[in-house]
Amino acid sequence: MEFSLHSLSVTCLMLVLLSFRIDAADIFLEWNVSLDWNIKPVSSKQPVITINGMFPGPLINTTTNDVVHVNVFNNLDEPLLMTWNGIQQRLNSWQDGVSGTNCPINPGQNWTYVFQVKDQIGSFFYFPSINFQKAAGGFGPIRVNNRDVILVPFPKPKEEFDLLIGDWHVLPHKDARQLAARPSTNLSTPRYILINGKGSYNTSWAKNHESIQVEQGKLYRLRISNVGTELSFNFRIQSHKMILVETEGSYTNQIVLDSLDVHVGQSYSVLFKANQRDSDYYIVATPTQIDTTNSPDLRGVGVLHYMNSKSHASGPLPPGPNQLDRNFSISQAKSIRWNMTTGAARPNPQGTFNVTNVTVSQTFVLHASENIFNSSRHFTVNNVSYLTPSTPLKLADYLTNGSGVYQLDAFPVASSLNETTEGTFVASGIHKGWIELIFKNDNSFMDSWHLDGFGFYAVGFGDGDWSPRSRSSYNLFDPVVRSTIQVYPNGWSAVYAYLDNPGMWNLRSQRLQNWYLGEEMYIRVFDPDKNPAKEQPPPNNLLLCEKNEIRITMKS
Ligand SMILES: *[C@@H]1O[C@H](CO)[C@@H](O)[C@H](O)[C@H]1NC(C)=O
Ligand SMILES: *[C@@H]1O[C@H](CO)[C@@H](O)[C@H](O)[C@H]1NC(C)=O
Ligand SMILES: *[C@@H]1O[C@H](CO)[C@@H](O)[C@H](O)[C@H]1NC(C)=O
Ligand SMILES: *[C@@H]1O[C@H](CO)[C@@H](O)[C@H](O)[C@H]1NC(C)=O
Ligand SMILES: *[C@@H]1O[C@H](CO)[C@@H](O)[C@H](O)[C@H]1NC(C)=O
Ligand SMILES: *[C@@H]1O[C@H](CO)[C@@H](O)[C@H](O)[C@H]1NC(C)=O
Ligand SMILES: *[C@@H]1O[C@H](CO)[C@@H](O)[C@H](O)[C@H]1NC(C)=O
Ligand SMILES: *[C@@H]1O[C@H](CO)[C@@H](O)[C@H](O)[C@H]1NC(C)=O
Ligand SMILES: *[C@@H]1O[C@H](CO)[C@@H](O)[C@H](O)[C@H]1NC(C)=O
Ligand SMILES: *[C@@H]1O[C@H](CO)[C@@H](O)[C@H](O)[C@H]1NC(C)=O
Ligand SMILES: *[C@@H]1O[C@H](CO)[C@@H](O)[C@H](O)[C@H]1NC(C)=O
Ligand SMILES: *[C@@H]1O[C@H](CO)[C@@H](O)[C@H](O)[C@H]1NC(C)=O
Repeated sequence: MEFSLHSLSVTCLMLVLLSFRIDAADIFLEWNVSLDWNIKPVSSKQPVITINGMFPGPLINTTTNDVVHVNVFNNLDEPLLMTWNGIQQRLNSWQDGVSGTNCPINPGQNWTYVFQVKDQIGSFFYFPSINFQKAAGGFGPIRVNNRDVILVPFPKPKEEFDLLIGDWHVLPHKDARQLAARPSTNLSTPRYILINGKGSYNTSWAKNHESIQVEQGKLYRLRISNVGTELSFNFRIQSHKMILVETEGSYTNQIVLDSLDVHVGQSYSVLFKANQRDSDYYIVATPTQIDTTNSPDLRGVGVLHYMNSKSHASGPLPPGPNQLDRNFSISQAKSIRWNMTTGAARPNPQGTFNVTNVTVSQTFVLHASENIFNSSRHFTVNNVSYLTPSTPLKLADYLTNGSGVYQLDAFPVASSLNETTEGTFVASGIHKGWIELIFKNDNSFMDSWHLDGFGFYAVGFGDGDWSPRSRSSYNLFDPVVRSTIQVYPNGWSAVYAYLDNPGMWNLRSQRLQNWYLGEEMYIRVFDPDKNPAKEQPPPNNLLLCEKNEIRITMKS
């Protein structure tokens, strides 16, 4: 979410910063990240990434402006980076944990992330960002709660549950990433959907399924995230309506739903009232926007258990919309609006920051497609497949002003190269300018795009090609602010972002295969002002990669 910090005077800003320091808490965590062969979420043995033995990993439970210290011990046999999906890292892309901002933590090493959940509220999750490791787990929920002084726009639920739901491959992630890249093979559709790391109710191999216990008459909040690798899912609870209240840090206009589509990388909060008779009910997540009629078992089923229930869940699973009904999905997406009158991280109503009257200073039209070239499968943005340099971009800026590592603005952002290539795609974003990002999906399957460092305003969705005329269909009145947006097959999605957060920011596909094979770029937002209240200097524990260590030794 963007805030008009620029409109505050410097003194006022200092006061605001001071008052944050008074009520913000420090949270210290130690994480042991390991490969575990004994978890077996499905019938076959495969390595699963655990945190302190847990899969999914532990909840990071914070309140606006808390400072989180996570000391990550890498017990894997390969480099590791953790990223914090949707946490904006204000003025501090050094903590973002993607290949363009941080050197990886090598096996046997540890590194402490320190970041503030500044000016944010909402539901998010973390996951390992490199080497296709997300396919093996390592993810977990993040909550940012309202400060006490700011009202939450709905009654306090009796309890909150985090539901991390995602598709699951049976292949170990190292095999999956090889298959994904090889032109002569295809990574097959995932076979399973797990709910909080657990298999489906009623399957012979599932040791246990997810079950949440409720008390009749009480209100509950579910924080649902799609932590999968590629499938969008439709979520529903048998015999219960849901009320949508939040998405990725924004309170939404409350709408009543029978079911909710959640795309890869997205998070939502819904409320529901346990207003049925004492019994057990199904919780279901089924793939959407893809035809899986030949894999009827590809679904996640858990149980909503009423405390005094004596009967098992029964009857057919609640039906969702038709799997290929795009109209349902798009019209639901368009109905998710910002609640303009409620406060969020601050008491100001969210509507104070509306986009009705903004002047856009940059437009990027980003075509994503799949191409085979250079003996490998690639996913490209405007025909460029991202090439990860051995020195992270952010570190390169610090050590050598970027030179020798990447060339800023070397690739077109408003059109496409006429040939496919690999390259380190970094584009300038104008500091404190509004950017319009158009994501065009040239593939025949769902995609979703995420921007680190910002919340963006989801202003439009459309089929076919985008053209400037498509702007007439935008919702500039009350678009919701979030950080991941779905893009329908052969369609486009449009967002606005206010680039008030200097740093090196990852713009990526959340679909793991696309991301791993090059569908990403970076937006560099540069503020020349060295005032310490501006972008933060590198942390004291700045991690260097092997190459940089050599360079620094030679310098001294
Ligand atoms: C971390 O996990 C590994 C593998 O499970 C174990 O060998 C090691 O002792 C653990 N380390 C700590 C500090 O808990
Ligand atoms: C999370 O933190 C809030 C605020 O401190 C607290 O009320 C709540 O009980 C915590 N929840 C969990 C699951 O720890
Ligand atoms: C590694 O862990 C030790 C022990 O907890 C800690 O003192 C040290 O600061 C950590 N190293 C880094 C780079 O964070
Ligand atoms: C991979 O999938 C694509 C699209 O479905 C198909 O055209 C291609 O033949 C497949 N390749 C192999 C090796 O199966
Ligand atoms: C549970 O398993 C039984 C026996 O395999 C099957 O008939 C029934 O349809 C299953 N129910 C669900 C909800 O999957
Ligand atoms: C979806 O909406 C379009 C345009 O409104 C309409 O032409 C089409 O028939 C609809 N498709 C379905 C499956 O309802
Ligand atoms: C918006 O939030 C306010 C509280 O600030 C609440 O009273 C109102 O019902 C919400 N509006 C909708 C449409 O959800
Ligand atoms: C949006 O902001 C404009 C000023 O830029 C203001 O006039 C308008 O009332 C705001 N709209 C809403 C719905 O708050
Ligand atoms: C903002 O735009 C609306 C219409 O989109 C217009 O009525 C209003 O006058 C504008 N406000 C300002 C402050 O420019
Ligand atoms: C691609 O080719 C078209 C037609 O020849 C040309 O107009 C366009 O400028 C080219 N684009 C780039 C980025 O070279
Ligand atoms: C991308 O490059 C290929 C050649 O590899 C070319 O055929 C195609 O037209 C290019 N795509 C666009 C959108 O320019
Ligand atoms: C193919 O890969 C090689 C080695 O990574 C690289 O040098 C070359 O530029 C690539 N070719 C294209 C067209 O990207």
